[in-house]
Amino acid sequence: MSQSEGNIESILHESRLFEPPAPSGAPWLIDSLDEYKKLYQRSIDDPKSFWGEIADGFHWFHKWKQVVSFEAPDAKWFVGGTTNLCYNCVDKHVRDGYGDEVALVWEGEPVGKDGPEVKRFTYAELQKEISKFANVLRGLEVHRGDVVTIYMGMIPELAIAILACARIGAAHSVIFGGFSAQAIADRVEDAKSKVIVTCDGAWRRGNVVPLKENVDHAIEILKQSKKKVAAVVVRQRCKNGIEWHEERDYWWHDLVHEVDDQCECVPLDSEEMAFLLYTSGSTGKPKGIKHTVGGYMVYTATSAKYVFNLVPGEGQLYWCTADIGWITGHSYIVYGIMPNRVPTFMYEGAPNHPEADRFWDIVERHKVTQFYTAPTAIRAFMKWGDEHVTKHDLSSLQVLGTVGEPINPEAWMWYHNVVGGGECPIVDTYWQTETGGHMITPLPGATPTKPGSCTLPFFGVDAAVVDQEGKEVPANHGGLLVVRKPWPGMLRGVYGDRQRFIDTYWSTVKIDGKPVYTAGDGARRDEHGYFWIMGRIDDVINVSGHRLGTMEVESALVAHEAVVEAAVVGMPHEIKGTGIAAFCTLATGYEASDDLRDKLRAHIGEQIGAIAKPDMIRFTDSLPKTRSGKIMRRLLRSIAAGEVEVNQDTSTLEDFSVVARLQATDES
Ligand code: PRX
Repeated sequence: MSQSEGNIESILHESRLFEPPAPSGAPWLIDSLDEYKKLYQRSIDDPKSFWGEIADGFHWFHKWKQVVSFEAPDAKWFVGGTTNLCYNCVDKHVRDGYGDEVALVWEGEPVGKDGPEVKRFTYAELQKEISKFANVLRGLEVHRGDVVTIYMGMIPELAIAILACARIGAAHSVIFGGFSAQAIADRVEDAKSKVIVTCDGAWRRGNVVPLKENVDHAIEILKQSKKKVAAVVVRQRCKNGIEWHEERDYWWHDLVHEVDDQCECVPLDSEEMAFLLYTSGSTGKPKGIKHTVGGYMVYTATSAKYVFNLVPGEGQLYWCTADIGWITGHSYIVYGIMPNRVPTFMYEGAPNHPEADRFWDIVERHKVTQFYTAPTAIRAFMKWGDEHVTKHDLSSLQVLGTVGEPINPEAWMWYHNVVGGGECPIVDTYWQTETGGHMITPLPGATPTKPGSCTLPFFGVDAAVVDQEGKEVPANHGGLLVVRKPWPGMLRGVYGDRQRFIDTYWSTVKIDGKPVYTAGDGARRDEHGYFWIMGRIDDVINVSGHRLGTMEVESALVAHEAVVEAAVVGMPHEIKGTGIAAFCTLATGYEASDDLRDKLRAHIGEQIGAIAKPDMIRFTDSLPKTRSGKIMRRLLRSIAAGEVEVNQDTSTLEDFSVVARLQATDES
């Protein structure tokens, strides 16, 4: 919570209400706070009729018998119903006569002399492409219930691949392209995947990320465990000379050429697994968060509709800048957006390629109406300068969204004034991989906003800030963020690890003797009942809106022969929000040096991925510990933040002994 403590003053300073403006496009679906409150109360008092009515708007092959059944920690939604995510994203619109409407707009990163490459797919075209790839997967013996691993750049084939899985009832496990071969191997092993879908390479800021090469290394690692894996490769033509393994590699374009473009959507039980998404926790390796079909579909599409004010037939174009490798991309590029019949925009590359105004250039050229990004990106834009934004006509924008980490009020104000011209509501959406969709968020036409607050809970979300005993804390007191009732988009488990599911989410707080969902975040509610997220209370750090377990980075560091012991903590970072600080003690024969720092950073890149590379590595004789032998993390955080000085000798080894002695009583 240290990061947020520093923020509170400025948060309070900026704590003024911004009333929702008049709509600049389609009318607001919910246009007053009273209406929100009425609907919210109904969703809490009578979730069965509330969600039942909403679910009626979706296609079910067989209607459910019961809206929800819950015995903590196990929830089932739309029990007995059968449906299909892909059908509701695509086929339903074709069936209803909208096959010729644009479903997906994609823009590539490279800008040639004729501008960037842009592709558009109608619902009918997507239906064919998805059906073809679904048939390809079947041809590779992917069956209902199998997990397909996907490690790709942000290209249309990525959306097609996940929807093809959904079509035939295979689950997908998408791995963000920034993760390493080792990280891929770990996830493939855990999910028991037999097929990996990848690209020869992916464009990123004018460079090529060698995705296929990473997959080859991952398969090498997996071979040691005798795992047979096939790879399907999309040719992006940005990488020459990839290695080819006839016995297991297939070109996407060859395979789709050979199959039929018809493939029926399989009716799936509401509670069948839709996908796994691996995310970091405070202990061990990343865990596979499991989401199921029916509840996830209804929840993500409903939250997308109201939070982004999605209205079909109004010329909207929705753009979320996240990668599909994260939950934000799953829920709010594909699954939550497409059932609303509003086209979704996908961009392949970096925000500053070829220039720092690329995003705003895209907004202007494509007339983007809803724009959803992360505070870390907003802070980078602020730094790059207003002129990159203001030289573009951004008047098409109707709603601005933010997600992934607390947004500092300065960044909020900048987003509001410079990007939104003071006229666009900002939706600061708090949620998690585990929650499937938005949990606490303003509704653009209804909720007055305060810079830095994610405001009020979404429909059906019984969020509260409590103490360890489960009692709500008074206004403006910090506590644990919990959710006391089930909601349709909630995770259904940790893949293959029931105990971890219970220990992580259902063991911290009980209310009336029953466990409640604990998010792992600290929060407070102000006098208006508005939520302010104060940051993680476990050993998870949020780097540029991406979750990393400090133990994951520590394990990777000690796996290097030079490091005997390591401690990793978060530190304030101007752009990333939280940076990574690593403290290492070295093995005999190793000297502290910049060269070793570089090697360790490269090693972390190989073990986990570039996002986990420490921003600061400091070497020490020994780590400061309490009398009971626990590493004094709070002290290390203060040191990393520059609040506490330590003795540093000429060889750059640090001596914590004095400060450690001073603080020992405090932390033990
Ligand atoms: O700490 C919270 C932070 O991100 C965590 C969830 O990370 P992840 O599962 O990777 O999902 C990120 C995208 C949904 C949360 O536990 N977080 C997410 N959104 C916000 C946030 N913190 C403050 N404000 C937010 N809007």
